[in-house]
Amino acid sequence: MSELARRLNQCKKPVGDQGKVVVDDMNERHYELTGWGLDKIKIDKAYKMLDIGCGGGRTVNRLSKAAEEGEVYGIDYSSDCVRWASEYNKELIKEGRVHISEASVEKLPFEDNKFDVVTAVETIYFWPNVEENIKEVNRVLKKGGKFIIINEIYDDDKFRERNNEFAKNSNMKIYSPEKLKSLLKNAGYLNVEMEIKEENNWICYVSEK
Ligand SMILES: C[S@@+](CC[C@H](N)C(=O)[O-])C[C@H]1O[C@@H](n2cnc3c(N)ncnc32)[C@H](O)[C@@H]1O
Repeated sequence: MSELARRLNQCKKPVGDQGKVVVDDMNERHYELTGWGLDKIKIDKAYKMLDIGCGGGRTVNRLSKAAEEGEVYGIDYSSDCVRWASEYNKELIKEGRVHISEASVEKLPFEDNKFDVVTAVETIYFWPNVEENIKEVNRVLKKGGKFIIINEIYDDDKFRERNNEFAKNSNMKIYSPEKLKSLLKNAGYLNVEMEIKEENNWICYVSEK
């Protein structure tokens, strides 16, 4: 397996010592990207929020700081990520403001209409059935709640060579801006808005239930 394939495999499901290195790196490298995306919504201090594919847990931490009277849930299907994200947020967990658990986006362990905001940072490429999975996200959102997808890769001519390498070395799905937008609309989301930072290949979608 090439070094790139190994890294992408760890991005898909970080595990073990190598996974810990990748997760620490993602906590650093995704911070600016995540901030760029989160700036597109207003976070009320009492919001209940969910971060899907929470990895090392930095986004959960950041959301919790923005909602000091709210609650933030993080889920990941890697039990190692659950452990690392729990460690990263241990004080907030003690205070009862953060909850991290092991689950897949395919079946979210939450009741209908629970969250004001659901975030998915750098994870949707790996979801097993995106059409169905975004419907499952919709189920747990409150009416009027927002679903934010933040990605540092979308299908575009400028980055085609690099992105083809990524796709060749993993089974990640790299969506065109219009494709994911139409999937969100077909899944029943309203007011689907998309913003692109072309020079970085960054993309963010904000959709509403
Ligand atoms: C590239 S990492 C991004 C981690 C974190 N969101 C960040 O920005 O640093 C992708 C994460 O999504 C998680 N993931 C992938 N598929 C998932 C699924 N079906 N359900 C839950 N988590 C998933 C992986 O375990 C991994 O932690």
